[in-house]
Formats: sequence, structure tokens, C-alpha cells
Amino acid sequence: MSDNVRARFPILSETAHGRPLVFLDSAASAQKPDCVIEAMSEAARHCYANIHRGLYDMSERTTQAYEAVRDDVARFLNAADRREIVFTKNSTEGLNLLAHSLGSQLRPGQAVLISALEHHANIVPWLMLRDRLGIELRVAPINADGDIDLAAYEELLGDGRVVLVSVTHMSNVLGTITPVKKLAELAHRHGAKVIVDGSQSIVHRRVDVQALGVDFFVFTGHKLYGPTGVGILWGRLPLLEEMPPFLGGGDMIRSVSFEKASWADAPHKFEAGTPAILEVLGLGAAIRFVEELGAEAIEAHERDLVAYARQVLEKTDGVSIMGNPVERGGVFSLQVEGAHPHDLAVLLDQQGIAIRAGQHCAEPLMQELGVQATARASFAIYTTRDEIDALAHGIERARALLA
Ligand code: ALA
Repeated sequence: MSDNVRARFPILSETAHGRPLVFLDSAASAQKPDCVIEAMSEAARHCYANIHRGLYDMSERTTQAYEAVRDDVARFLNAADRREIVFTKNSTEGLNLLAHSLGSQLRPGQAVLISALEHHANIVPWLMLRDRLGIELRVAPINADGDIDLAAYEELLGDGRVVLVSVTHMSNVLGTITPVKKLAELAHRHGAKVIVDGSQSIVHRRVDVQALGVDFFVFTGHKLYGPTGVGILWGRLPLLEEMPPFLGGGDMIRSVSFEKASWADAPHKFEAGTPAILEVLGLGAAIRFVEELGAEAIEAHERDLVAYARQVLEKTDGVSIMGNPVERGGVFSLQVEGAHPHDLAVLLDQQGIAIRAGQHCAEPLMQELGVQATARASFAIYTTRDEIDALAHGIERARALLA
């Protein structure tokens, strides 16, 4: 990616502790390009009102702008129909929606299958469903490289009791890109529907939901250079049409009396209450920005950074890279000899380098990996090779201070 791309992110010229900011925590939340900031600010300044409600010009124009983002998302994901796009608050809400709505149709004796790579957002809703309905929660293990063990995955599907598989497309801890197409084929062969948590992958890979062959896909806006407070649930239309609503309230109904309510069609039946209007407009700008850069350029940039980071970090004394997956997105979890991840993060921060340290909302995975925490560096379209060099030197300095 060129300097021109970095120039689109005003925050990247900030400093931290008097040093140029080296932002290596984009997997937690990515920075925002000028077009996203401007889309939200322009709407708030010039054209904003509540949507789907007003019989006046500004409300109608805001509704049109909001609904146009549904088209942007449908195009971006290659959805078969714009009605397959549900605006949510984030991935977590998308997964909770599915666990409640789709999950309510499950019966005791049936099972949901997740993987050992999952973020809490794709574990806790299923644990809650298990406790509510008495279903079983199964977990596909990973191998020593951090890839899902496909033989074990297939075996867990074998008895035909798994009706839902819910897996990440990219681990936020190890960077593992999971073979979602293959996982979906196997799940469908055994009669299970497939949900994909694309919170991380959407940033790093072209996602074509039809080509992936999955049934549901969720992602969040703020990791895709968009605002917080808005996410997407994509689902196949016939499935969304059969599902009951999740949250009840305004905008999701067809009619209401004190005796009963009936629901609007999908996707509106899943969008109760005033949505995140400005944030949806910001997400639209983010998606158009990413489309302009192009999936090929984004993937090429990332492949270069991942290869470079591996080469540099492998040569850095005391550093071990966790996991060696078949395919890795721009996320590296590190163990650094003599430095607790939290101490390392603080010492790097003093050098202007932002990483994330801790369990990364993946406590069960930490247990699988046999560690308390990791130090995680994650990349984005604005990350440079120089920043990876800065990380390596920063680690060397931190180790020297702790020695
Ligand atoms: N899920 C986000 C992360 O991995 C917050 O950091």
C-alpha cells in the first residue's frame, strides 16, 4: 500500500509519548479514513433525521442513504438479495441474534459445534443457549499449528446431532484463516447449517458469501475501518424468513395491538428500534473505500506484511510466534522470553508502539495453548514494514530493560 493510503487516516500522524504512533492493534479496532469521518460529519451537518418514519424530505433522504448502504453491503459480500443484509450493533449482537432466533428452534438432544479458536462472542451465546434448552455444545479441537483438526471436526458431525456449526473465519489470536468452504461442505453433508464469524477475515480477505457456501456470516464495522456501533448479519433469505425476531420494538413490526404483534419481513423484523443511522452511513463509506483499494491489493499487502513479520520476528532474540497455521491473516501472537505480555505492552507503549496484550476475549483458547496471555500485533492496510521493524527493535529494548 502506498503512502497515499496512510495519508487517508488522519490519526496516523499523531504521536504517542512523543514518538510517532506505531499502531499495531487494528484487530481490536481499526483506525478510520477521512471518508468515514466525513460521511458521518456531513450527514450530521446537512442531512440527518430518523429513518423509515418521517414524511418529510430530510427523513426520506436519510432513509435513502441508509438503505443504499444495505445495497453496498450486499454488493460487498456478493449476497443474492439486499434483504439478506441485517444491520446489527456488532458481530456479538449478530451471533446473539442467531443463538436466540435460530437457536430457539433447537431441541434437547441436538448439538451446536464451534471450534477451539473462537472468540467469547462465539462461545458465550451458545453456552447460554445450552443452559436454556439443554442442547449440547461441542468443540472441534485445533492441532499444534493452530488449524482446526478436520478429522476431529468431521467426527463430531458424524452422529447427525449437530444442527448448527458456528466457526470463526480468522482467529483473532493466532491469525489462522479457517477453511470455511470445506467446513461448510462437511457440515451440510451432515445436515447442519453454518454460521461464520467474519469479524477478522472481512478486513483481510475478499468475502463472497455465495462462493463460501455458508448460511450466515457476521462482521463488525469498526474493524473494517468503519465506526463502532454497527455490524452486519448476512443470512440466506429463506432462512431469515423462517426465523423469529430477536429484539422487539418499533420498526420491526407489521402491526401491534395489546393482544398481539406481527412482524415485518426480513431484514426489518430483525432491526428493532432506531438503528445506528450515522454509523451505518460511515460503514457505507468504509466499504466503498475498501472496494476502491481492491481486494487483490489488500491481500497482496497483507501477504507481504505477514511474510516480512515472520522473517523479522523469527530473527528477534527471545521471541516465539504462536501457531503456524496453513494460512495466516495479519495477526501475530507472541511470547517473549523474560517479558510478561502486559509488561511488554507497557514498555512498547512508551516507545509509541500500540499492541494488545492479554487473553483477547479467547480464554478457552489460552487454556488450549497453555498460556495466561499473549502479546498480539495486528496489521491493517496502513501498516508498513517499517512498523514491523519498529516492533522488533521495541521488543529488543523492552527485553534489555527487563533483564
Ligand atoms: N475482538 C477484538 C480483539 O480481538 C476486540 O481484540
